[in-house]
Amino acid sequence: MEKGRLLYEGKAKQLFATEDENILFVSYKDSATAFNGEKKEEIAGKGILNNKITTILFDQLKKHGIDSHFVEQISENEQLVRKVEIIPLEVVVRNIAAGSLAKRLGIGEGTALKHSIVELYYKDDTLGDPLLTDAHLTLLELATPEEIETIKTKALEINKVLQPIFKEIGVTLIDMKLEFGRTTNGEILLADEISPDTCRLWDDATNNKLDKDVFRRNLGSLTDVYEIILSRLGGLLK
Ligand code: C5P
Repeated sequence: MEKGRLLYEGKAKQLFATEDENILFVSYKDSATAFNGEKKEEIAGKGILNNKITTILFDQLKKHGIDSHFVEQISENEQLVRKVEIIPLEVVVRNIAAGSLAKRLGIGEGTALKHSIVELYYKDDTLGDPLLTDAHLTLLELATPEEIETIKTKALEINKVLQPIFKEIGVTLIDMKLEFGRTTNGEILLADEISPDTCRLWDDATNNKLDKDVFRRNLGSLTDVYEIILSRLGGLLK
């Protein structure tokens, strides 16, 4: 598959056309950003790590009957994906209070939630990705009510599959951000990536953070902790 023209460049990835109009070429970048792009650094090796980790997790989801846009990994930092129309929602699933939930509701970081919750944020950098209420969702019409229900149900299913996978490698899935798209025939499909950039992952033995909070909060080397996640996930597959 040939890499065609650049269609879109985000903070962490570039999307290119291919000769097949239904397939895109994704290139993972080494840029790390936080706080809506206010903190930014180039971190050599980050793109390769996120490409590999996302590949393993999308493969695992597929084995558990959950489809995504992922087609195949084609190089260390590149993959082919199905073209979808991204729904501009950041779908956050939370199992344990942390980050913005802890701050917004005054729940201590690390407090287990009675049940997993899904929150929808408007994916719009200029607005700072605001949290959406049901009333906002109705006003914005980013997706139909049926599509929103499907997205919430799928997000919880994905969480149910990923939680035990991370448990097996001695890590707790605290929370994660998912994105979904629409295929040409109107199917809702998991898209984007699932990596330590988009999840909070805490080591069960040490409680250390093995995710992008290491970068956000200046806690050490981002690639060192992403390597830990990749090598443990790799071990799981052997
Ligand atoms: O910051 P907050 O607590 O709302 O983040 C919840 C989860 O969503 C975290 O795992 C974080 O890494 C992820 N997230 C993301 N991209 C954003 C916002 C949050 O991947 N723009």
